[in-house]
Amino acid sequence: MTADPQAATKTGYDAETVASLTADATAIMARYPDPRSGLLPMLHLVQSVDGYVSRDGILFCAETLGITAAEVSAVATFYTQYKRHPNGKYTVGVCTNTLCAVMGGDAIFDELSDHLGVGHDETTDDGAITLERIECNAACDYAPVVMVNWEFFDNQTPETATALADQLRLGDDVVPTRGAASVCSFKQMSRILAGFPDGRADEGVGAGEPTLAGLAIARERGWTAPDAPAADGAADGTAADGAAAGQTSPPVGTPGSSAERKPATSSDTEVGKDKKPGEDAK
Ligand code: FES
Repeated sequence: MTADPQAATKTGYDAETVASLTADATAIMARYPDPRSGLLPMLHLVQSVDGYVSRDGILFCAETLGITAAEVSAVATFYTQYKRHPNGKYTVGVCTNTLCAVMGGDAIFDELSDHLGVGHDETTDDGAITLERIECNAACDYAPVVMVNWEFFDNQTPETATALADQLRLGDDVVPTRGAASVCSFKQMSRILAGFPDGRADEGVGAGEPTLAGLAIARERGWTAPDAPAADGAADGTAADGAAAGQTSPPVGTPGSSAERKPATSSDTEVGKDKKPGEDAK
C-alpha cells in the first residue's frame, strides 16, 4: 500500500475508517511471512466494519495486499462465512447435517423459516436475523443444535428455536447453553474472527457431560487406544518422521486433550448451573 492510503484509496471509506482498517490490517499482515496470507482475516475485518464483504471492503483488501479485486472476490465468494450482502445482527444457523437433521434440525429450520418469513441466507426485514442452514458444528451429542453467531444453543426444538428468534428480534439478552454467557453481534464476532479476541474464548463450559461421557467410561475401565501403527512415508519425510524423531502422542483417553483444560471460571466447575446474561463476563 502507498504511504498515504487515505489519499490513494479507491474505496468509499472515510479517512478515519481507512486509518483504523489500515492499522488493523497491518497487525494482521505482520502475523504471516507473506502478507497476502492475511486475506482471510482481513475479509473478516472488513465484515466487522460493514457487516458484510462490501465493494469497499474488497477494494481495501486488494489495495492493501497489492492484489486484484478479482483475486479478493474469488476468495470471498468461496467461503460461506463471507457474506456478499448485508448480514443481520445475528446469524441464526440451524444444523441440518446428518445427526441434527434426524433429531429434528430440518423441522427446526422449516419452522423458523415459516416464522421469520425468510429462507436460507436471507435476512428479516428488521435486520435482526439472517437464517442459515449450517453443517455439523461438532456438537452432535447435543443434537439438534442452533448456533447464534457461533454460540451454542443445544438440544433445540421448533418451539425453543422460535422463542429464541423472537427474543433476539426484541433485543432481549439470550444465554447460550455452553461457552460464553452472552451473544455478541455479527460485527463483533467478525472482529474476533479477524484475530482480535475479546478475551472470552475460555468463558463457560466447553465440553459438557455428554461430550465427556465416553472419556469417563474409558477411564473407569482403563481403556486406551492402541498405539498407532508406523505410517508409510518415513523415508520421504512425511508421516513417520515425528515418530522417528521420538515424538509420540499421548494415548487417547489420557491427560493432554482439550478436555483437560484447567478450570478458569466458576461455570467451569458448575456444569448445569443456570447462567445469567453477563455472568462470568470479563
Ligand atoms: S450434525 Fe449437527 S452438530 Fe453434528
